[in-house]
Amino acid sequence: MADSASGSADKSVQVKLVLLGEAAVGKSSVVLRFVSNEFQPNKEPTIGAAFLTQKCRLEDRILRYEIWDTAGQERFHSLAPMYYRNAQAAVVVYDVTKASSLEKAKSWVKELQRQANPNIVIALAGNKVDLVQSSSSSPSPASPPESEDEADDATATPEETPGATGGEPESLRQVPREEAQAYATEAGLLFFETSAKTGQGIVDIFTEIAKKIPIEHILAATRGNTGRSGAGTSRAEGTRQSGVNLEEDATKGKDACNC
Ligand code: GTP
Ligand code: MG
Repeated sequence: MADSASGSADKSVQVKLVLLGEAAVGKSSVVLRFVSNEFQPNKEPTIGAAFLTQKCRLEDRILRYEIWDTAGQERFHSLAPMYYRNAQAAVVVYDVTKASSLEKAKSWVKELQRQANPNIVIALAGNKVDLVQSSSSSPSPASPPESEDEADDATATPEETPGATGGEPESLRQVPREEAQAYATEAGLLFFETSAKTGQGIVDIFTEIAKKIPIEHILAATRGNTGRSGAGTSRAEGTRQSGVNLEEDATKGKDACNC
């Protein structure tokens, strides 16, 4: 790709983004939804990490997210610094139906704040919100995808909307939205509740991160140090396993991210 940093005709900016979080919270599913607008009900655990890219338009700029989707299993923890090093953004995912996963998310945030790039933009995402939703509860402010491309909702099966009778499956919820939101505010994180299954909140994560990224800073850094912005080192490393279609590249040419 053209070396974009000069800001001439091609204004694309590469942003290295890493996903972290406990195993099975839905990191790969969030990425798959963002990159391909798909959902796989039985996604296998990631081994090592997977690498994907997706473009995102922000005003007159095109951001090209270089996404490192890490493995949540504890045995892979020590690999994480390789993926968050030089990252400009991180999405730390937990599962709203599993309290321990928020604790794990907090420990990832601490680690990032101690050891990652000091300007890193961190988003906290409470995933699987479809499991605790009802039509009567207050909806997340996250707007659903609205692009032509994403409108067909692929595999999204409507929940049984137990809210129709006033009941809601809140018993499954182990992390109150308010609690996670309060923590995120205190820690200076963006916050979303998401569902990779329905698509709720997914695009919003990447859109809001894109707005917060210090683009000029990245451009300046890239200018002085071409190729430094991350993932360039070992694409192959990320291409092991993981069921994610690693060829899902931005070269598809669409802006699936309707930033
Ligand atoms: P590791 O790679 O092991 O760290 O897991 P992961 O965090 O990447 O989780 P993954 O995306 O593999 O999802 C784990 C399981 O949760 C899979 O069976 C997914 O289908 C399911 N899942 C992921 N996101 C959602 C969601 O938003 N809603 C529901 N209902 N299930 C989800
Ligand atoms: Mg995974």
